[in-house]
Amino acid sequence: MYQVYIRSFADDSGDGVGDIAGLRRRLPYLAELGVDAVWINPWYRSPMHDAGYDVADYRDIDPLFGTLDEAQDLIDAAHALGIRVILDLVPNHVSHEHPWFREALASPPGSPARDRFHFRSGDAVPNDWVSPFGGPAWTRTTNPDGTPGEWYLHLFTPEQPDLNWNNPEVRAEFLRTLRFWFDRGVDGFRIDVAHALHKAPGLPDLDGLPYPVPQPADGTPAPAHPFFDRDEVHAIYREWRALADSYDPPRVFVAEAWVNDPTRLARYVRPDELHGAFNFDFLLAPWKPDVLRAVIDRSLASHAAVGALPTWVLSNHDGVRHVSKLARPQTDTRVALLSQVRDDPADLALGERRARAAALLMFALPGGAYIYQGDELGLPEVEDLPDAALRDPIWERSGHAERGRDGCRVPLPWSGDRLPYGFSPEEASAPPWLPQPDDWAPRTAAAQDGDPDSMLELYRAALRLRRTLPADAPLTWLPAPDGVLHFSRGDALRCLVNLTGGDVAAPEGKVLLASGPLHDDGAVPPDTAVWAR
Ligand code: GLC
Repeated sequence: MYQVYIRSFADDSGDGVGDIAGLRRRLPYLAELGVDAVWINPWYRSPMHDAGYDVADYRDIDPLFGTLDEAQDLIDAAHALGIRVILDLVPNHVSHEHPWFREALASPPGSPARDRFHFRSGDAVPNDWVSPFGGPAWTRTTNPDGTPGEWYLHLFTPEQPDLNWNNPEVRAEFLRTLRFWFDRGVDGFRIDVAHALHKAPGLPDLDGLPYPVPQPADGTPAPAHPFFDRDEVHAIYREWRALADSYDPPRVFVAEAWVNDPTRLARYVRPDELHGAFNFDFLLAPWKPDVLRAVIDRSLASHAAVGALPTWVLSNHDGVRHVSKLARPQTDTRVALLSQVRDDPADLALGERRARAAALLMFALPGGAYIYQGDELGLPEVEDLPDAALRDPIWERSGHAERGRDGCRVPLPWSGDRLPYGFSPEEASAPPWLPQPDDWAPRTAAAQDGDPDSMLELYRAALRLRRTLPADAPLTWLPAPDGVLHFSRGDALRCLVNLTGGDVAAPEGKVLLASGPLHDDGAVPPDTAVWAR
C-alpha cells in the first residue's frame, strides 16, 4: 500500500499544492513501482486547519485538489492499472465549518443539533483533558448576546470539534458517507484516530492518567482511558464491516489506532471488524535487533490469535522520516517527533544504508506493507524548514515548542536539477506550499530511474520479488549470531539483516537481492539485508 499525501505528491494546476490531476498523471509511476493500492490522505472539502483532517463535506472534493469528476476518473484510471484506491475517513471530528457544527452553534444548549457533539455548560473548563496538539481539549463558545456560552470538546485543534458517537445520527451519517464512496468504486478506507471515537460516560477527568495506560504490576487489566481505545468503538467497526462485506468485491478498512499493547491492537482486526491496523510498534522501533525481533514476534502472535496478519510501516505523514531517524547512531529510543532527534546530528549515509536494509526487512515479513510517498526515493526529513514556512497546527498550538510534522510533508522531487524538481509545472504561479531543499536533484525519481544502486530501483526490485512470495508462507527464525535477524518464509525466501557492527556470513542459497554491496566472499557488511533462496 502506497500512501499518497496528496498536497505534496504532484501539482498539475501550478498553485504549489499537489492535486488529483497530478496524481492521475503519475499513476503509471506507481504501477511501475509495483504497489497494489494507494491510500490517499483526505481530499474532501476543508478549510485546511489540519491539512484536510478537518472535513467540512465528506462527499465532495476540495477545490484545491480538484473535482468529484476528477476523483471518479482517478478511481477508474487506478483500477485500469490494477491499483486499488483507499480513502481516508475522519470520523472522530469534523471541521468547525461542517454544516452540523454551524447548526450546533446556532442552536440552544440541550438541542438535538448540539447533541451530535460534546457541549458542556459551566464557567470552569469541563474537565482536565488536553489535546495531543497542545492546550486544553475544550473551547468556549460565545452566545449571540456576546456572553460566554457552552464549551465544546476537540481532542485536536479548536477547528476540529469531536463528534458524539452515542448519537444515532452520527452513526447513520458515516454509513451514508461510506456508501457514497463505495458506490463510486472506492476499495476501502483508512480510519483516522480509530481508537478515539467513544468517550467515557460523564467525561471524567484524566487525573494524570498517562496514555498508553501502564499495565498494573499484579497482572490485572489496565484501567480504561476516558477517550482512547475504549471497548465501545468496536461496535462501530462491526457495523462498518457488515457494510463493507455487502459489496462485491468486499471493501476493506485499516485502522490508525494508537494502542500500546499488541493484544489491544489485535481487537481491531478480529474477524468481524477491520482488515488491518497500522503497526506503530514497528514504526517506532529503534534499529536494535532484539527490539525488532520482539516487535515482529509480538505482532505476529497477537494477530494470529484473532486469525489476522499484521501490517508493517516505517514512515507516515505524522512522524520523522525513517532515513533521518535511522541516521542517528546515538538514538535508540522511540522516535516520532523531530524534537526527539534534532539535537543529535544526522549521518544521512548511515540512515540511507539502514533504510535500505529496513525496507528489505519490512517487505520480507508476512502481512501488509505500507510505503509513505518518498520512502522509495530515500527522502530524509527536512529538518531546517524556516519558522515562517511551518504550517502544521502543532507549531502554534504548542507555543512553538514542537516544530510539528511539516518536515516529512515536503513536496516530492520528480525530475530536473532545480526547484521545484518537477513537482509543479514550469509555468507554475506559486512555489511549492512547503519549500524543498536545494540539494534534492540527485533524489528525484528521474535521477534514480534506471540507476541500479538507487533507492527507487531497490524498492522496485523488492516489490517485484515480493509478488512471488506466497502470502501465507510462515515466518520461521533461523539460527544466527547475536545481532542478526535471520528468517525464512517457507521455501520461498530467506532474509538476513545484519545489525551487528561487523561482517557476518551470507545466508545459504542464491542471493536474490541485497540492500547494499556484499563482500567478494558473500559476507554481509553491517546494516545490510540480503534476500536469498
Ligand atoms: C491522525 C492523522 C493526523 C491528524 C490527526 C487529527 O493522527 O494522521 O495527521 O492530524 O489524526 O485528525
